Amino acid sequence: MSRVFSGIQPTGNLHLGNYLGAIRNWVTMQDAHECIYCVVDLHAITVAQDPATLRAGIRDMTAALLASGIDPARSILFPQSQVRVHAELAWVLMCTARMGWLNRMTQFKEKSGKDREGASVGLFTYPVLQAADILAYQATHVPVGDDQKQHLELARDIAQKFNTDMSVELFPLPEPVIQGPATRVMSLRDGNAKMSKSDPSDASRVNMTDDADTIAQKIKRARTDAEVLPSEVAGLAGRAEAANLVGIMAALTDSSVAAVLAQYGGQGFGAFKPALADAAVAVLAPITARFNDLRRDTTAIDVVLAQGAVRARAIAEPVLAAVHRAVGFSG
Ligand code: TRP
Repeated sequence: MSRVFSGIQPTGNLHLGNYLGAIRNWVTMQDAHECIYCVVDLHAITVAQDPATLRAGIRDMTAALLASGIDPARSILFPQSQVRVHAELAWVLMCTARMGWLNRMTQFKEKSGKDREGASVGLFTYPVLQAADILAYQATHVPVGDDQKQHLELARDIAQKFNTDMSVELFPLPEPVIQGPATRVMSLRDGNAKMSKSDPSDASRVNMTDDADTIAQKIKRARTDAEVLPSEVAGLAGRAEAANLVGIMAALTDSSVAAVLAQYGGQGFGAFKPALADAAVAVLAPITARFNDLRRDTTAIDVVLAQGAVRARAIAEPVLAAVHRAVGFSG
């Protein structure tokens, strides 16, 4: 039995990094698996947040996922806070996870930065809630971007320890699914920084809502070096910006880095960038059009989320009941 689960934060809009790194895999996995996709609003409040922005962000992320091809007739799409099992199971798993394990999490160190003492406790235990998300559905496969590898390892450690401590075989050990030529899309301004919605420079990312002209402008202005593209993959070593753009091209055209270099090797960025912009527009324009359409009908979005939550509860509640029995709770 296989079951796919993944989550995405409702903060800001989808960008090309989210799309190529994870969401595209979410879409294709629907063909062969039972898939459960979650807008993780409980995770969103681990950092400072504004209620109106969060409310709009949940709907916008839902519209973006539907526009990208998540099909609510086949897959379950729901907001995390509407299924109380996540928060309840997270408490139990916080008693399974060890301080030492969480102290090693690099994302907490990055997000808390210099103000570790001022970070919320929720930000510290964020990866335990993420483990609860996955384990509440006994998920076996978790499509994520490359940056979530460490959180997935922690989820496996928690699942294993719970099973061992309680002498049960309740939780399968979830496997990360990180695939495609662009699992790690980098900033257009800095080939060593991840493309991110929190980067203050909008020119660093291609947003799913950018129009064709904006996309072309951003790609034209993307940082590169002065050399021509190599013909072999090895020639990208030490050329982070070039490697990033070639990887994006490969992902957008369902190709490989080697095939893109076979075609563009020997050419300069003056020739490559317009082709890359065309490829980006070809993929994104239909998604953007659907997104702009879908987000107008907030009632329809709320219906999708409410129906998704009902289906999610039907799977997660019996798992929580099994957890209660395993732990020794009386009800
Ligand atoms: N932490 C993930 C991210 O930032 C989002 C997330 C929350 C998630 N819960 C999850 C991803 C469960 C996969 C499975 O991308």
